[in-house]
Amino acid sequence: MARKLTVLEVLLIIFFLTVLALDIFLMFFVFEKTEEAAFVPECPEIPESERIDCAPGQVVSEDACSQQRKCCWKPVPDINVPWCFFPRNWGYHIISRQNDTKTGFTAQLEKLSFPSLFGYDVKEAGFTAEYQTSNRFHFKINDINNRRYEVPPEIINLSDRTTNTSNLNYYVEVIDKPFSIKIMRTSNKRVLLDTSIGPLQFAQQYLQLSFRLPSTAVYGLGEHVHQEYRHNMTWKTWPIFTRDAAPTKGMINLYGAHTFFLCLEDTSGASFGVFLLNSNAMEVTLKPAPAITYRTIGGILDFYIFLGNTPEQVVQEYLELIGRPFMPPYWSLGFQLSRRNYGGINGLKKVVDRNRVAQIPYDVQYSDIDYMDGNKDFTTDEKAFPNLSNFINDLHKQGLKYVIIMNPGILNNSDYQPYMNGSHKRVWILGDNGFVVGQGYPGWTVFPDYSNPTCTQWWTEQFSEFHKTLKFDGVWIVSCYSG
Ligand SMILES: *[C@@H]1O[C@H](CO)[C@@H](O)[C@H](O)[C@H]1NC(C)=O
Ligand SMILES: *[C@@H]1O[C@H](CO)[C@@H](O)[C@H](O)[C@H]1NC(C)=O
Ligand SMILES: *[C@@H]1O[C@H](CO)[C@@H](O)[C@H](O)[C@H]1NC(C)=O
Ligand SMILES: *[C@@H]1O[C@H](CO)[C@@H](O)[C@H](O)[C@H]1NC(C)=O
Ligand SMILES: *[C@@H]1O[C@H](CO)[C@@H](O)[C@H](O)[C@H]1NC(C)=O
Ligand SMILES: *[C@@H]1O[C@H](CO)[C@@H](O)[C@H](O)[C@H]1NC(C)=O
Ligand SMILES: *[C@@H]1O[C@H](CO)[C@@H](O)[C@H](O)[C@H]1NC(C)=O
Repeated sequence: MARKLTVLEVLLIIFFLTVLALDIFLMFFVFEKTEEAAFVPECPEIPESERIDCAPGQVVSEDACSQQRKCCWKPVPDINVPWCFFPRNWGYHIISRQNDTKTGFTAQLEKLSFPSLFGYDVKEAGFTAEYQTSNRFHFKINDINNRRYEVPPEIINLSDRTTNTSNLNYYVEVIDKPFSIKIMRTSNKRVLLDTSIGPLQFAQQYLQLSFRLPSTAVYGLGEHVHQEYRHNMTWKTWPIFTRDAAPTKGMINLYGAHTFFLCLEDTSGASFGVFLLNSNAMEVTLKPAPAITYRTIGGILDFYIFLGNTPEQVVQEYLELIGRPFMPPYWSLGFQLSRRNYGGINGLKKVVDRNRVAQIPYDVQYSDIDYMDGNKDFTTDEKAFPNLSNFINDLHKQGLKYVIIMNPGILNNSDYQPYMNGSHKRVWILGDNGFVVGQGYPGWTVFPDYSNPTCTQWWTEQFSEFHKTLKFDGVWIVSCYSG
């Protein structure tokens, strides 16, 4: 029978194992650091128009660029052109490629040795490519070792996915080192997208991919205010981050996020679209190459490419995936009147009457948040708006419609029925320590998690209950909170 180890022996073994582990760790750590320190950037003659900014949004010195970042440095007179830009040998390489099936393939990517810009680089990334339909190609890049946030799949409709890939209108080529992907149109072999123009970056909070484009006729992305429908490709960076802001001239970051662009290839109308399925804050840079760079601070890189013979067809392909906009009621296209604080029900009545007397045609009257009791959804301020429902009946008799505001921030208070019902059903957004609480219009609020089907049910119930007391015709749903 084996002798039992003494306490001292156990402690000694633990000690030696710890030292050994520490050694191995240090060995790798130091090795990696040395390897990064020894990294020599490859900076061939990269045309100015093709530079990918190595210090986006920052002004760096030559030393910071070449010594710390190990990027290429070359000042030029045009201050829009990045002086510090990525070398050709940054990025990832393919270490294995699996399963070259008829409907797609996967590959394992490994980070090449280069210094990290922001730390926490993903060492091993997974690449998945799918030939989804004859006109739609999908590829995504995620972290093999850690689960990262992905937009819930029910957002998109993949029911048209095909297994017959004998007639694809595109074909794909992958370069191993540094990793890049090229998507071509079958009919004329035109390269639609080519990521070899810049390195893949995949860190915890910094994901980037650039595409060389076949033409400068680029449309889409948003929401922003710019004068021309067609994009200006002269080093323009557009952030995409939704907030409650009015669309005034030159304004960026408005209510909606559209991470999609369309590129018109030639005068025949042949076009393609690119959609990044990612809900994190991001920005896109348009450059004269022509090229486009997507940068985001979370999630994964999840791209859908759509081909069409016309721009309309590309938009149809895109909507097939993300869903079509709802058909608005006819009246909602009419003239509408809205502001905050008309001065209670009497002020509101005066405005309606004044417009009617002046015979100004209009179809819709709104009420902003002041109709609510204490800014709480599904309530009315009985003092400032007594008999509001009678007023609405009058509007309806005159053929007008009435729209009320709603804010998806629900007051966290046990006296408030919508909060109690929602809490009972657990429909709020969860954080690390229970439901997320923030400052909303009524005070401390919780936030409905619309990706939860139970939440949709709760939200619908609240509206139909409230509609029994107030016959509104539409709701204007505003971002959670602001100001
Ligand atoms: C390819 O992947 C599919 C689905 O994961 C699997 O059923 C199949 O066996 C794989 N084929 C090869 C050759 O690895
Ligand atoms: C998904 O797309 C198919 C057509 O490809 C359509 O019939 C179906 O209604 C769509 N589903 C949803 C939920 O929009
Ligand atoms: C796949 O599509 C091609 C071209 O449309 C067609 O000729 C072929 O019969 C299809 N194959 C199958 C298995 O459906
Ligand atoms: C694009 O922007 C640049 C720089 O702001 C400007 O000089 C140029 O005139 C613009 N081009 C077009 C076509 O508007
Ligand atoms: C509210 O309406 C009722 C009946 O329609 C009426 O008797 C009452 O005077 C109204 N109250 C106000 C404050 O207008
Ligand atoms: C809501 O408010 C109550 C009382 O102030 C508090 O105990 C609770 O932790 C708050 N948070 C949530 C998510 O309900
Ligand atoms: C809220 O919950 C109460 C109690 O369960 C129920 O009577 C009421 O109908 C619910 N209201 C809504 C709008 O769901």
